[in-house]
Parts: sequence; structure tokens; C-alpha cells
Amino acid sequence: MIKMSVGVIICTCGNTLNDKIDIDKLVDFAKSLEDVSIVKRVELLCKDYKQVAQELKGKIDRLLFVGCSERSSLTFNEDKIAQILEEIGLDRAMFEVANIREQCAWVHEDRDGATRKALDQLMMAYVKLRSNRPTGDPIKLEKRVLVVGGGVAGMQCAIDLAKAGIEVVLVEKKPYLGGHTAQIPLLFQCEGWSSMCTSECIVPVIARETTFNDKIKVITNAEVKDVEKVNGNFSVTIEQEPQFVDPNKCVSCGKCAEVCPIEVPNQFDLGFSKRKAIDKDFSLAIPDTYNILEEYCNKCGECVKVCPTNAINLDAKPIQHTYTFGAVVIATGFSRFDLNRIAELNYAHPDVVTSLEFERLLTKGFKRPSDGKTPESLVFVLCSGSRSENGVPYCSKICCSVIMKLANRITTLFPETEVAVVYKDIRTPGKLEDFYKMVERKGVEFIKGEVDEITSDNGRLKVAVFKEDGGEEEIEADMVVLAEALVPAEVQLLKKFGVVTDKFGFPIEFQPRVINPNETYVDRVFVVGAAKGPEIVQNSVESGSAVAMRIVEILKDGEKKLQKFVSYVNKDLCSKCGICASMCPHDAIKMEEDGAKVDSAFCRGCGLCMSVCPNHAIQLINFEDKQLLDQAEVAFKHAKEGEPRILALLCYWCSYAAADLMGMKGIKLPPNFRTIRIRCSSSVNAGTLLEILKKVDGVLIAGCPPKNCHHGWGNYVTAKRVKLMNEAMKQLGINPDRLRWEFIGVAMWGPLAKAIKEMTERLRS
Ligand code: FES
Repeated sequence: MIKMSVGVIICTCGNTLNDKIDIDKLVDFAKSLEDVSIVKRVELLCKDYKQVAQELKGKIDRLLFVGCSERSSLTFNEDKIAQILEEIGLDRAMFEVANIREQCAWVHEDRDGATRKALDQLMMAYVKLRSNRPTGDPIKLEKRVLVVGGGVAGMQCAIDLAKAGIEVVLVEKKPYLGGHTAQIPLLFQCEGWSSMCTSECIVPVIARETTFNDKIKVITNAEVKDVEKVNGNFSVTIEQEPQFVDPNKCVSCGKCAEVCPIEVPNQFDLGFSKRKAIDKDFSLAIPDTYNILEEYCNKCGECVKVCPTNAINLDAKPIQHTYTFGAVVIATGFSRFDLNRIAELNYAHPDVVTSLEFERLLTKGFKRPSDGKTPESLVFVLCSGSRSENGVPYCSKICCSVIMKLANRITTLFPETEVAVVYKDIRTPGKLEDFYKMVERKGVEFIKGEVDEITSDNGRLKVAVFKEDGGEEEIEADMVVLAEALVPAEVQLLKKFGVVTDKFGFPIEFQPRVINPNETYVDRVFVVGAAKGPEIVQNSVESGSAVAMRIVEILKDGEKKLQKFVSYVNKDLCSKCGICASMCPHDAIKMEEDGAKVDSAFCRGCGLCMSVCPNHAIQLINFEDKQLLDQAEVAFKHAKEGEPRILALLCYWCSYAAADLMGMKGIKLPPNFRTIRIRCSSSVNAGTLLEILKKVDGVLIAGCPPKNCHHGWGNYVTAKRVKLMNEAMKQLGINPDRLRWEFIGVAMWGPLAKAIKEMTERLRS
């Protein structure tokens, strides 16, 4: 057996724990443990850790801290602990905590019982510490970032990264930068002072800054073809359509478009204008170059003849670019819901258009598409496809504000036009409410209800409305504008990067979402702007900048320090079933010829893989099954006989913190339970739970509340596992009350205490 030198620090929290726990007993007990070379009793380690660290430096190779909770202590938590370990020169994994304050001294009144529990908690931490393995070596990260999507959010992110010295490759599907923002003539500005700004000003400003920056390589007409995670980085193949016009030679003179014989609908204007097969999508498009629509070009060669700079090559071929990236930003914006799917909205009628189509139409004048006449009456229909049974159930967030902007514009420029708005609710958050009030003052009619159907008769549209007050109304109009629902743009792209999405296809942000905005479950893959859900331009730009800051921090050292808990595979046991890879919420496992392989830089250490492996081939370092069983073995060595021995396995994040809060909030419980901080609740497999049940009377396993697991679906997996086990236990004649599952969030200290009490009573009886 390897000889160790374990240091034990027992902190009395300013001697406040002495009344609750016999600290002398703990000290004597610690001294009696094998390989313990130093036992130090301190009063306030959090205030004095530097001096203690100096005393321990070079004398120990493992450290056991007995005191407050590393999860919840306000003065000595994980961050401070990392500092002390650095001072001592110890690997982060050569450390464990026995929580004798929040989950012992503060939650029990019986000093003898609390002391017995403290001794057991110390012993449990000690046996685990002895078998901990050192953290792996850091992994080198490429200081290059892929931004997919050249809208405002993606460009802003690229610019900020480049300013910080980080190389960026920005990939855009279209021939130009700016995304949907370029199609919207007037943009909201709403933080501080509600106003409008033109995209013809904003988009070229930000697009020029992007293309002029030497650190940013812009690849237009391109898409991500393949993604592979290699040694902690992303190896990405980008496919670019043939570059028939060389942007380095094109001077945008337009002679090619003049002679091109082929005219096609211009998709930038959503088909409301025409362009040539060789053309610019709009005059201010950046990169400032013409492009050829391959599907329409007949290769007549007229453009080649007139091009003064020989910029056109009709034989150009697609180009593949492959790069390695340390981080990825998805900035692909939104897509528009297909309103043809809702027949009653009559979207097929030429004078029924969507709000984005109306934006483009207005740039050509206020004319209705069917006959070019200026409409005398106009109806806006909110929630077209949003919050709808036939569309999507969610609110598209920005449509009410967009319609208020458009209604304001029409009533200002064409005051004689009758304008009505059919709405379910008006949702104009923050300063955007100003636009709503402005429109109300201008006499726009607001009708609360839902559209039954839109029909047409003799060139007039009729909008039949079921009103909220129970009545019905039919509004006649020359034109109808539908506030279309927004849907995810690039679900397949997200899947390529292994990003978890919701049922609609929007990426789910990493938990806790309130402090990890824009971060996905895949390490170093971020989403910005409307790619993560409907968003206004200003907030999209903000998210681009915010993510750039995060990435600069991540890539600054060019390496990633591994966590002390990552999964590893014993290839001799792996049957290559692939269950671990399919269940991993972080896309950190791939299947290779000789079995599963974990990319440690992407592993977030949930342990879900470990619990679903049928062969126990995959284990989570420093949270291995064996370590858990060893802890369970000693968990009640000092407990009094006669009381049910309950072992609570609490997930690293929510449930363990709730147990701390039981003590902090003054809840009192009998000292018959012990706690182990596991990683995700899903990390404990059924076999291990059964083994633990041989050693204790009851196991309470608790994890984060629904939708809040830090590892996607881990809590649901555990809930299901325990349910199935309870069924099986019943059939095997084992009392199912001995195994209990609870969804426990941080603030659910009350329900956690109730569960422990209930379990104690049931097992007692
Ligand atoms: Fe808490 Fe998964 S992290 S249950």
C-alpha cells in the first residue's frame, strides 16, 4: 500500500462548534487514523489560512478539512480552498471536506449524537481522500474561435474577440453580413431612451469593422459541414460555395449585372423586387462584391466579357476550409414560421403578408402587392403562429413591439390610413412600451380577440375576429400584416456540436441559466442573439459582447485545467454499446473502434455515463462506485444502535446546498442521517444503490428540481431509476420505503428536512 501523509485541519469556527460537538474527540480520532501525519485544530481557518498553509507546506500530500461546508460557507468555499491548496502545492483532488458545521453542529441539538455524526463524517471523507486520484494534465486549447452566423450578434462577438487578440473565423451562409437586421430598415433602440436607428447606418458600420479586422477571417456563402471534437478542441470543416466572383478583384462597378440577361426574385427583398443572376443583394451589402446565383446562371459569359478586373470565373468550384477552434459561437439568428400551415390566416393571398415582408415592402413604398395601390385600411394580426395550437406555443417576444413600430410608421407617414390591431395581449417590455402608447394616442384601433379566419371578397380582405368579450367582429381591410412567429434557424447545426435543444429546437442554456446566459451544455459552445430565442437587435449585440468576454477569459492561458472529476473508460470492459455516449448531456464521449472514449476537456463530471454503463466500464474519477461504497461502509460506525441509519446522497449543486441550508435556517433533526455529496444524482447506478442498502437502513437520494439539473436530464434519470427500483423492491419483498427519491432545490431545505423525518419515522415503525 502506498504510504501517504495526510494532514487534517479541524476548524472550530471561532470556538462556536465546541458547544455542539466534542472537538477533542475529533482531534484524537483524527490522530488515530492511519497515515495521518498532522492534525491541526484551528479557530478560524478562513481568516488565517495563509499561515496554516505555510505550516503544512511540504509536510503533507493530502488534506482533510473538517469544518464548514465548501458548498455554502460564505467565508471558506471552493474558491478559497483552491487558494489554500495552491499555497500548499497540493493537487486539487488531494483534498476532502467533512462538513461538521451546516450539516451537523447546526442541525442537531444532541451533542453526543452530533459528535458521533461528526466522527463518521470525518471518517467518510478520510476514506474517500485516501483513494482520490490526482487531476489530469491541462489540455492545450487553440486560441481561435469559430463564429457561425454573420448577423449583428456574431459580428459584435467577432470584433470584441479580435480586439482582445483572439483569431476568429466567421462563417456566414449568405453572400453578405448583417443577417435579418440588414432587412429591417428601422431598428429599435430601447435602453435608456426609446428611439429608432436605421440598419443602413448600423449594419455597414459593424460589417466594415468586421471585414477590415486582420484577426477576423470572414467566409461567406459557407456552412459548417463537419465537426469533430479532438483533444479538447473542435476540428471543423467549412464548405464554401464556388466563388464565381473574386471579392479581392471585384470593384462593385455593376457592369456584370447590367449585361446579365437573367432576372430572378431578390430573396433579400423576400421576392418583392428582382435581381440579376449576377448582382449584389442590396447596395450596401458587405463584403462589397457581386455574387452569382448558381441555380439561375446559364453561364452565357456576358458578365465575364464586361468585367474590367477579370474578377469572374464561371468554373469556380466549392472550397473546403478546415480549422481547429478552442471555442465556438452559434449566432445563426432565427427563422420564420411557415404561416401556410395555418389555413385560416389566408397567407397565400398576395395582400396578406408577414411583418418582415411588410418591412421590405415599405422600402419600395406603401403599396399592396396585388395591384400596387396604396392601402386605405390595414389590419395587423399579432401572435400569428405564436401562442397558438396550430403554430408554436411560446411567445415570440418581439412581434408586439415590431407591430407597434410599423403601426407608428404608417400612422405617421399615411395618417389617412385606417389601422387596426387584433391582439391576444400586448407585450412590449421595458421602454418599448413607449411605442405602444404612441400608437394608441394616434388612434389605432385595438381589438382584443383571436382571428377566426381571413377571407377575401372583391379585392377586400375580411378579418373575422372572436372578441375576448364574447362578441364577433369582421374588419375589412386592403391589406393584412401577420406578426409571424419566430422559430429556430439551425437545429441541425446545433446537433453537429452536440448542443442540447428544447422540443422546439432552441438550445438549452447551461444551468444555472441565470448566471450562465448564452452557455450551452457543451463546454465552450455558446449561443448568442436570436439563435437562442427571439431577441431584439440591441440585446443580440449585447449577448455577442458578453460571450466574447467569457471566451477571452477561457482562452487567455491557451489551456484548460481539468476538473478533478472526469470520466474514464476501461476499454477491457467496454462492450461498445454506446449507451454512455448517447446519454452524455455534454457530448463528451465518442465511440471509437476499440470502445467509448471520453474527451476530458468536454467532460463536466456528472457521472451519468457511469450509472448507465451495463459493464461498469466507465467510472467518474474521484466519485467512483467503490469510493461511494467505502464511505457507506463507515457512515454509521459511531452511530447509536436503535435508530434508522439513513444515508442521504445529495447532488453536488442543489440538494447538498439545501442540506446546508437546513442548518443555516435553524431546522433541527435527529442525528440519525449522514450525507454524501455526490455529483449529479444520476451518477449512482442501481447496483450500487442496492449494495449501499446492505450497509444502511435507508437511502435518500435527492437531486435538482425539474428542468434544473446541471446535467440536462440527470434528475429525471434518477427519478425513473428509483421508481423502477421501488417497484422491484416491492416484488422482492424489500421494503420500498428504504429507498426514496426527492427533487430538492437549494431553497427546499424544508421539504428535505420533511423527507428525512418521514423516512426516519417510516423506517422506525
Ligand atoms: Fe443535481 Fe443533476 S446536478 S440532479
